[in-house]
Amino acid sequence: MPKARNPMPGGRRPIVVANWKMYLGATATVRAARATRLLTARMATRVDLVLCPAFPLLQAVNAVLKGSRIQMGAQDLHHELAGAYTGDVSADHLRGLVRYALLGHSERRRDHGETDEIIAKKVRRALKAGLQPIICVGETAQEREDGDTVATVRRQVERALADIPVLSLAHCVFAYEPIWAISQGVGRSSTQPSPDDAAHIMGLIRKVAADRAGRRYAERLRVVYGGSVERKTVGAFVEEPGVDGVLVGAASTNPVGLNQIVREVLASTHYGNH
Ligand code: PGA
Repeated sequence: MPKARNPMPGGRRPIVVANWKMYLGATATVRAARATRLLTARMATRVDLVLCPAFPLLQAVNAVLKGSRIQMGAQDLHHELAGAYTGDVSADHLRGLVRYALLGHSERRRDHGETDEIIAKKVRRALKAGLQPIICVGETAQEREDGDTVATVRRQVERALADIPVLSLAHCVFAYEPIWAISQGVGRSSTQPSPDDAAHIMGLIRKVAADRAGRRYAERLRVVYGGSVERKTVGAFVEEPGVDGVLVGAASTNPVGLNQIVREVLASTHYGNH
């Protein structure tokens, strides 16, 4: 039996989040969900695999995944529960349909002016609705160059957790996504942090959570890496202690590629050896 390389304390399960963004059309989304279900059927008992399709396709993907262990996530939700917010989707709309919600993605921060304060409200809103927030944090290229990575990520994590009950921490996932490493395209040689550097920042995320809620609760928080993850690069990240999985964009829209990523995650974490 191979030796466990990355034992995950705190009863944490490895997690792979597939962020399909606005990549796939309606037919392609359903087809990808179907193929993913077929390919990952056996592994989904040992890893939380979360598909995040576009809002209008949540129902259709839900129907495809019915009876499987694969879970669903929304790509966002509004920070208010109801009201005059044209084009937005509330936590109430999503309740019962998805288990997770991606919040504070850098593309939302950049294109929709989402601030740390708005994201903190979304986190509270998601938790109140019984949804598990996947909170994205990470520095820009400029912040990295200026040596501000630690300060940026610390601020984002502190604000996101400011008003949540400590018990909720076990339901949260943080995704460390350095913005300069995101969306560089599958198969291109991409710029990524070294796994060691990424793990260092992910350790910081857990430490900030521990300062806020105590170590016992922070041990139950899951922290994943995101940013041009693909089959060839995923192993080195998830072998690092304290890395509980990955958030994958472009590469996750290909079911064969996603299946390989899930395999790599299982092979590199404690759960992979059961
Ligand atoms: P990418 O996207 O894997 O295509 O870089 C990750 C993300 O933006 O969540």
